[in-house]
Amino acid sequence: MEWNAKWIKPSWETESKAPLFAKCFQTGKPVQSAILRMTGMGVYEAAINGTRISKDVLAPGWTSYHKRLQVQTYNVTDMIGDKNELTVLLGCGWYRSHLMCWNDGNIQTELVKKPAGITAELTLTYADGTEEIVCTDESWTVSESQVRFSELYDGEVVDATFVPQEITSAVCFDGPTETLIPQEGEPIREQERICAVRMITTPKGERVIDFGQELTGFLEVKLSAKKGEVVDISFAEVLDKDGNFYTENYRGAKCLYRYTCRDGQQTHKTKLTFYGFRYIRINQFPGGTENADISCFTGIAVHSQMKRTGHIHTSDSTLNQLVSNIIWGQKSNFVDVPTDCPQRDERFGWTGDAQVFARTACLNYDAERFFAKWLNDLAADQREAGYVGSVIPDVLTSVNEHGTASSAWGDAAVIVPWEVYRAYGDVGLLRRQFPSMRKWVDYIGTITATPDLWTGCWHYADWLGLDAPSGSYKGSSREDFIASAFYANSTALLIKAGKALGEDMTAYEHLHKRIVAAFRKAYPEYLTQTECILAVHFHLAEDLQKTADQLAHMVREAGVQLKTGFVGTPYILHVLSDYGHTDLAYELLLRREYPSWLYPISKGATTIWEHWDGIMQDGGFWSADMNSFNHYAYGSVADWMYGVAAGIQVCEDAPGYGKIRIHPHPTDKLDWFEASIETRHGLVSSKWSKTMAGAWRYEIVTPVQTDIQLNGKTCTVPAGSYIFHQE
Ligand code: BGC
Repeated sequence: MEWNAKWIKPSWETESKAPLFAKCFQTGKPVQSAILRMTGMGVYEAAINGTRISKDVLAPGWTSYHKRLQVQTYNVTDMIGDKNELTVLLGCGWYRSHLMCWNDGNIQTELVKKPAGITAELTLTYADGTEEIVCTDESWTVSESQVRFSELYDGEVVDATFVPQEITSAVCFDGPTETLIPQEGEPIREQERICAVRMITTPKGERVIDFGQELTGFLEVKLSAKKGEVVDISFAEVLDKDGNFYTENYRGAKCLYRYTCRDGQQTHKTKLTFYGFRYIRINQFPGGTENADISCFTGIAVHSQMKRTGHIHTSDSTLNQLVSNIIWGQKSNFVDVPTDCPQRDERFGWTGDAQVFARTACLNYDAERFFAKWLNDLAADQREAGYVGSVIPDVLTSVNEHGTASSAWGDAAVIVPWEVYRAYGDVGLLRRQFPSMRKWVDYIGTITATPDLWTGCWHYADWLGLDAPSGSYKGSSREDFIASAFYANSTALLIKAGKALGEDMTAYEHLHKRIVAAFRKAYPEYLTQTECILAVHFHLAEDLQKTADQLAHMVREAGVQLKTGFVGTPYILHVLSDYGHTDLAYELLLRREYPSWLYPISKGATTIWEHWDGIMQDGGFWSADMNSFNHYAYGSVADWMYGVAAGIQVCEDAPGYGKIRIHPHPTDKLDWFEASIETRHGLVSSKWSKTMAGAWRYEIVTPVQTDIQLNGKTCTVPAGSYIFHQE
């Protein structure tokens, strides 16, 4: 985009301190409009005459900075007076924080060395028709600020008594201009205020506050203090077996919160970093930790602005809690980028996790704009040869010692755009992503050791599958099997996408046929639950029914237990219910014992866990080094609840719910079940309940022509509300 303003930075090394930039200007005549456009290398908070210019936080968000940096536009007309001061506070944010890397020499290592820079242009249009532009240049000043330290993983240290010794002129430097793009994603905002629910004194004697809900965001403290007194807080997701505060699973993320008070009544909240937490420990508080009270603290949930579109309610309160956990998993991990987790030293846009959860995400919320921006980063970071990194923004690229991309992770390049298109029907998004989708499928053909399969490469496999050999994170399903199955699936989706765009897909149709044939020859039998699931769900098995029956048998033999990880779990219930094992699917969904979706709730979970056994049955932890309690991936089960239990399905020939199919699957295990989705065409809802006489009653509301399938029969109805009964 066209950009005229200069980049400015402080003349001194900021390290992890947040500099405060300032510019005073006068108007002298009536202002008709004032438009501020700006961005920074870090995350900024801008104010005019002491008032924040917008509700946005953590701007400019996270993109593949070396290729794309978003510029925000604010209408600040109402804030301009005669004499004005524009100030900008800049923290390290995603740009300049030390993010976890597994090796030296990656992109982030370069980014952290960049200066704390901002660039801004304020266009003042006067009532007399004249225009004036206030740009960042050496007339701006910079000082140190009260934010003495701020990093993404390591938290924030603020000293309200700090007064800068020196105010110096800003220095202009050659910052990026060719990478500037207008804001694409949803803005990040404070969304909900969460009150603390109880104060605990742990067996170790520590004062701990429970917010009753795991969340991602800020912490606000309100108190009366004397100048120089300190509030020092630590964060945790869970308490350990003995009820003590547990932080080991944050690994290298320090998550500091240290606030030095000024005199009197005051409120402080962090703003240039975020935390993932349910509990806080009061390490230090004015007058002693016993002085801290739950009313002093408020948790503030922060995430990308997205409209809630999907709701599920059922007669089972534990299942309702699961739905709540899934929603909170999404809120917590949709802070500009779809992340694995919001707390430990990762918080990356893991592609595998995103593709697993994309369908559910687009049902729960209107996530179109959110994903559209991330997909642009994916395409930007995709290498010429088609390689797609494990995380987007791909800050880890140069540390992937395996050289090739992982199946099910890189496949996000095809699956995510397809899911977003399926949910919202915008062919424009598909068109934009199509070259990247195609490049991905072509890429597999160039790296495989066996033509028409995907063999001989390194993969994350059925990550965290419960059938993993001891000491491994990878479930025991064969890696080449999974990779080849995803090769087939991505090719099949690419063909659908191409056809929707009017492309000639003949060559890919031939390729798909060859993959299926090669797959059947190479894998005549299926050794694990996940292998059965993929063979059926991706339509690879010669006998789909027999393979689904084999899966049902394996699940029953295991004592109605799933053994699946990231790859098999999203589809297991679909495969069962698609081939006549709906009862078993419900048994898995409603199972309360370990391993199951509801087991974590018996251990107090308020978000989805990374591991089925994050907290084991004896109360101990699965591990200290990789144990997040806020990982949305397994929350992908919600798409089965919307699409099969309530039975609301989008017709693929009319994406975006232009035409709907409703095929509810009631179960005696529940009294009633209701789901609704606010689609682009209006609200669709489906509820089933058992009447006193023991019959099923169905209440359906649909905004478009709909095929309703009940009792093995299908009827087509126009938009409207309907009630059916079935013995
Ligand atoms: C992340 C995952 C991710 C994985 C890659 C983990 O550390 O938290 O969710 O997909 O690595 O296998």
